[in-house]
Amino acid sequence: TTITWNADSAEKGGFDHFTIKEIHEQPKALRDTMTSRIVAGQKVKLDDITITKEMLESYSRIYIVACGTAYNAGVVGKTAIESLAKIPVEVDVASEFRYRDPIIDSRTLLIVISQSGETADTLAVLRDSKKKGARVIAITNVVGSSVAREATDVFYTWAGPEIGVASTKAYLTMLIAVYTIALHFAELLGTMTDEETDVIKKEMLLLPDKVSKVIEQKENIQKFALKIHGEKDVFFIGRGLDYAVAIEAALKLKELTYIHADAYPGGELKHGPIALIEKNTSVLASLTQRSLMDKMHSNLKEVTSRGAKVMVVTYESNKTVDSFVDTAVHIPETIDLLAPVLAVVPMQLLSYYVCSFKGLDVDKPRNLAKSVTVE
Ligand code: G6P
Repeated sequence: TTITWNADSAEKGGFDHFTIKEIHEQPKALRDTMTSRIVAGQKVKLDDITITKEMLESYSRIYIVACGTAYNAGVVGKTAIESLAKIPVEVDVASEFRYRDPIIDSRTLLIVISQSGETADTLAVLRDSKKKGARVIAITNVVGSSVAREATDVFYTWAGPEIGVASTKAYLTMLIAVYTIALHFAELLGTMTDEETDVIKKEMLLLPDKVSKVIEQKENIQKFALKIHGEKDVFFIGRGLDYAVAIEAALKLKELTYIHADAYPGGELKHGPIALIEKNTSVLASLTQRSLMDKMHSNLKEVTSRGAKVMVVTYESNKTVDSFVDTAVHIPETIDLLAPVLAVVPMQLLSYYVCSFKGLDVDKPRNLAKSVTVE
């Protein structure tokens, strides 16, 4: 036998690319993010966030501001904080927020999210807001980054170095970050009982194993990737937190495959995009929010009846869709709030496989940079 070894493949842990290695590292990354912070039967432990109940009660508004994938994590963060801690949250992209003269004063809490901690627009928002008296929590993956140094409080995601330009494991850990902060705020403000927060913590701790189960379905996803890799347009739909999954899924496809991808809330289909659906148009749906299932089933029928090729990501228990879509990727059950962590994984894998079928540079897509430090 010959042993083939080179430094390149060793760096990638035996995988062909960093992106697929990082997708596989997600269970570990999630565990590392939760370690010592999320423990069943105990209050959330966030040593680096020193906000008190009184401070939290004094804030009139919370903004979550970020760019790219980090913004998409912020969209989930808004729902998490509003539904658990009952504080209204606005979420915006940094390059819009900073130029729209937002209302910022000492009663403002700003949460910035940045994998690299160096994104110019995000950093500018942090600085402007601090000057105006806001308190800033940074969620970042890079220890000692500018954002980490300048924020009042820091939540490190501990995803480990992310080399692939398109974010995968950092995104999943950002979701854990926003859930953890939302739970912490709920505990400070007493908006939930211990039993209620415990249900969420226990479910969070099950996510790493469930992500591994999702990754096991890669062959199914690869087959659908083969079907759509020659397409020019792909549509992603979802409602509620599934819309948050849809925007991240569409971004991933654009970044990795250069296919034009658009995400729409399911209910908006009829206000325009449905005009573009014809025989063989590709439509991908995330279907995890239980109260919105029936509405999404009708949306799916609207597109399949026009001949669309459809892939759906939904819970194991939802077999209803199997009869009318091309590919159903079944993910383990969890509580709806946490579902984006599982539902986005098949979408990451899909983009990865489409990219490899097209023979493109997975880890370094054209025109994109891992960290955008210019405005
Ligand atoms: C670039 C990267 C994206 C990333 C965005 C924000 O566009 O290519 O993957 O989501 O910047 O980066 P940040 O480091 O602030 O999370």
